[in-house]
Amino acid sequence: MKLPNKLQKKLNTREAAGTLRVLKEPEDLVDFSSNDYLGLSRKQSISRRAIEILEEHDILTNGATGSRLLSGNHKLYPLTEEIIASFHESETALIFNSGYDANIGFFQAVPQRGDIILYDEYIHASIRDGIVMSHAKAYKFKHNDIKDLIDNLERIRELSLETNTYVITESVFSMDGDHPDLVTMAQMCKAYKSYLVVDEAHATGVVGTLGQGLVQKMELQNEVFASIITFGKALGAHGAAVLGSDLLKQYLVNFARSFIYTTGLPPHSIATILASYEYLSAPSSIEKPFFEIETLKSHIDFFNEQIVIHDLQSIFIPSTSAIHCAVLPGNERVKTISQKLKKEGYDVKPILSPTVPEGQERLRICLHSYNTQQEIKSVLSLLKNFTHESIT
Ligand SMILES: Cc1ncc(COP(=O)(O)O)c(C=O)c1O
Repeated sequence: MKLPNKLQKKLNTREAAGTLRVLKEPEDLVDFSSNDYLGLSRKQSISRRAIEILEEHDILTNGATGSRLLSGNHKLYPLTEEIIASFHESETALIFNSGYDANIGFFQAVPQRGDIILYDEYIHASIRDGIVMSHAKAYKFKHNDIKDLIDNLERIRELSLETNTYVITESVFSMDGDHPDLVTMAQMCKAYKSYLVVDEAHATGVVGTLGQGLVQKMELQNEVFASIITFGKALGAHGAAVLGSDLLKQYLVNFARSFIYTTGLPPHSIATILASYEYLSAPSSIEKPFFEIETLKSHIDFFNEQIVIHDLQSIFIPSTSAIHCAVLPGNERVKTISQKLKKEGYDVKPILSPTVPEGQERLRICLHSYNTQQEIKSVLSLLKNFTHESIT
């Protein structure tokens, strides 16, 4: 059947601009693009342990069979939420089906009409979508810019006592790899009586000694109103959780529509999350000497040294996370360099406008514990050559 004209036109515009999205199967290339930062998605000890957990709890069902508020709250849910809360030193954890669901559920439900949301201009699409669903007024502040945040907080200071203000940031920005000054942000939120919410998607499993995230690394557990952690990235599984108080959990269970009106995750998914947390909590008792977080951190240091050796500092956004971005303006330019890297066996994704603002197009290199120093050296050396070729 033909598409309505308006939709066909939008597809045509994308195609003409060379930005049409298409689904492809992953190829067997050196992985500098997935979110599997620690390689846990392929760790057999975790998949075996997930099956063991299901057997230990005598769970044979494949699906959750309903919303968690109806028939879907199988017994692994409360157990896993307790373990997650304890690992992250939070009063409670509430599992959602994905980070996308957690963000739209949280932001649709929590900020009320008459409230204000101040969000970093680079926050993830899932938070933006949640904000669109809320009835609060939303204003962006400049990326990681404390002064601009304070100016905004100052501007709204005189509003009525009924107005609650929510300040939203990420602990590792997904398209930049950088992070905010969370300690100062928390201080400012306290001073201006605002609620701080942190999306820890790319910090979960990566930042902190055991991968607890930036909030815990900075000892801000009691300063943050809520954090969103996800399991589809470094934990190699699927799903997400909102960390916060018991009352917040009770509120979300009652009002977060993406929690209420959907089938829960199947037992196997929850068992995998549980097995990944067991692994993060006690890696040495399961498998040593290879501890992935340490290896990833040393790769990040090595990558930053190699950027200097290859004299590429001017194009890379400074980052101490697993995400490193080389800003090379122009959709065609980043697509071409990505294709050339692919021919050499490296999977490095181009990030095009409008996903990032025009002129900020970039190549995004995600580092993993299973990358090697040689791969890092080679990809940077190729990048240097291709960048040079694309200018001359
Ligand atoms: C910062 C951020 N938050 C949330 C999400 C959504 O998480 P999920 O993939 O679990 O839906 C992503 C995914 O890319 C993300 O980068």
